[in-house]
Amino acid sequence: MPIPPGQCQWSLPLSRFRPSECAEVQMNRMNGSSQNREVGSHSTDTVINGWTGVQENGDLVQRRWRPDADAGAGLAALDGVLDRLGEGIILWDSASRIVLTNQRIREFLPEVKDLLRPGTTLRNLLTQTLARGGLEIPADQTEERFLRLLVRLHGRSDGREFILRSKDGRIASVKTHRSGPGGRVTVLSEITRRVQTEEHVRRTQKMEALGKLTGGLAHDFNNYLSVIYGYLELLKLEPDLTDDAHEFIEAALEGASRGAALTRSLLSFARRQPLAPRPTDAGDAVQETLALIRRTLGEDVEIRLHLETDLPRINVDPEQLASSLVNLANNARDAMPHGGLLNISVREVVLDRNQALLHPRANPGRFVLIQVTDSGCGMTPEHRARVLEPFFTTKGPGHGTGLGLSMVYGFVTQSGGHLTLHSRPGEGTSVRLYLPLAVDEAETPDEFCESGDARGGSETVLLVEDNDEVLRSVALQLRSLGYTVVQASRADEALDILEQEEAHIDLLFTDIVMPGTMDGVAMSRLAVERFPRLRVLFTSGFAGDLLGRAPEGVRIRTLLNKPYRIHELARAVRGALTS
Ligand SMILES: Nc1ncnc2c1ncn2[C@@H]1O[C@H](COP(=O)(O)OP(=O)(O)OP(=O)(O)O)[C@@H](O)[C@H]1O
Ligand SMILES: [Mg+2]
Repeated sequence: MPIPPGQCQWSLPLSRFRPSECAEVQMNRMNGSSQNREVGSHSTDTVINGWTGVQENGDLVQRRWRPDADAGAGLAALDGVLDRLGEGIILWDSASRIVLTNQRIREFLPEVKDLLRPGTTLRNLLTQTLARGGLEIPADQTEERFLRLLVRLHGRSDGREFILRSKDGRIASVKTHRSGPGGRVTVLSEITRRVQTEEHVRRTQKMEALGKLTGGLAHDFNNYLSVIYGYLELLKLEPDLTDDAHEFIEAALEGASRGAALTRSLLSFARRQPLAPRPTDAGDAVQETLALIRRTLGEDVEIRLHLETDLPRINVDPEQLASSLVNLANNARDAMPHGGLLNISVREVVLDRNQALLHPRANPGRFVLIQVTDSGCGMTPEHRARVLEPFFTTKGPGHGTGLGLSMVYGFVTQSGGHLTLHSRPGEGTSVRLYLPLAVDEAETPDEFCESGDARGGSETVLLVEDNDEVLRSVALQLRSLGYTVVQASRADEALDILEQEEAHIDLLFTDIVMPGTMDGVAMSRLAVERFPRLRVLFTSGFAGDLLGRAPEGVRIRTLLNKPYRIHELARAVRGALTS
């Protein structure tokens, strides 16, 4: 074919290029403009058909561009298609040089955008990506070993999935396959969301298991404490005690109280702390604890408060909310030893389905969000992953029990809300509590017996408790208060006693959790159906989900948490009898 004047032709067939050969050529367009491009055996036919050149002594010395409308359009179309893919694509030739990349891969690796072009070698790309901090080097690898591993995987090109993490926390699944004669294609899919969800689920399952363990422990422990409390209180009533003996008893009671506080935290984490949720104004709750928080934080920390007005009320136990806020403030203080800023904001938020999916415990809907943000030291990702576990602390012996955040987490989830944590080393920490709205004020459930009349009385109490030691010590305490006590250690036994004409029971005082098929709640329901005038007082060291099912028609206005002191027992019994 005659060559038109001013144009040239390849005299070296492309098939004779060595596979790795990749030449940059200047293309002169007919309109006079020019452009540098790569050409080599990797070039597709469409591209090559658009090229002409001459060979002299085996080298390319002159390159001319013969415009070829089809070729240009074809390439542009391919680029367009690749750029629309959700996956990142790199096409390699047999010498592991880049032939083609798409937009998505340039977005995932912005640090080496300039190298994601034809001709760059795999090794150069990887070395530069690591040097410029584009990828996170796994904790068990050195940079050199990681590089070798990536090169080896590329060489195998067996389509196996490999996970890469960018420095800013994005995660990608990468697979390399063989393609064409000696070439390879690498496909990168971002899976950050999927991995995050899996990690959430894994963490939740771990917390669930830990919760079962600590909940069971705390339950048993509460029974022991009840016995210790009970006998110490009875001992105190003995006549002729010396002053020293009184002092020793008080010290022992004080120790038991500290044990009780510890089990309360454990139960909170295990979401087994009997809660007394009621419609609560989150703004008021925050403002009421502010004085305490200020004292905790000292003068070096500035506190900023943002309260949205007209907030709907939330359904939480206000006491537990207050101790959660104090726990968060304590953590903020420890994170800012030289002062800083604490931001507390309260506002209403709506979680849609997608947002809720990101949090395994969250339901979509309206929440009041209490956000506590400090400007402190922040946490490493490793710590961040573990801080909700009970007993995880970085504060050293004597400085932290590691139960603070566990308690907050347990309280929030048990209340039907959820908690998120955002923290980076050096950038502070933000804890968000999403708390559910109060549905209906009329639903106000059980009340604590905190104040009221601590007198004894002469009524008859049917005491139902499956733990023999607890049963004995509580019976003795009730008798010391003047009551007549009838004892039962099972639900059916208690119902039999109620049926006896001569029993004249005024108050059924029962543990909620009991062995067998009938728990305290079910039993009380039967009892009240049969004897509508009967009063009921519940006690529990481990409420589980039972309280959520407060029986209809049963006058359960009272719940006494184990372990309790004798004056609390007296108040609760009197309160239930006179309700
Ligand atoms: N605001 C925060 N900033 C930085 N690190 C925090 C923050 N809050 C918690 N942490 C980290 O989480 C760990 C666990 O916190 P948590 O409140 O559960 O226990 P603790 O504060 O160590 O002990 P305790 O609260 O029982 O006194 C802390 O030891 C700390 O490393
Ligand atoms: Mg703490």
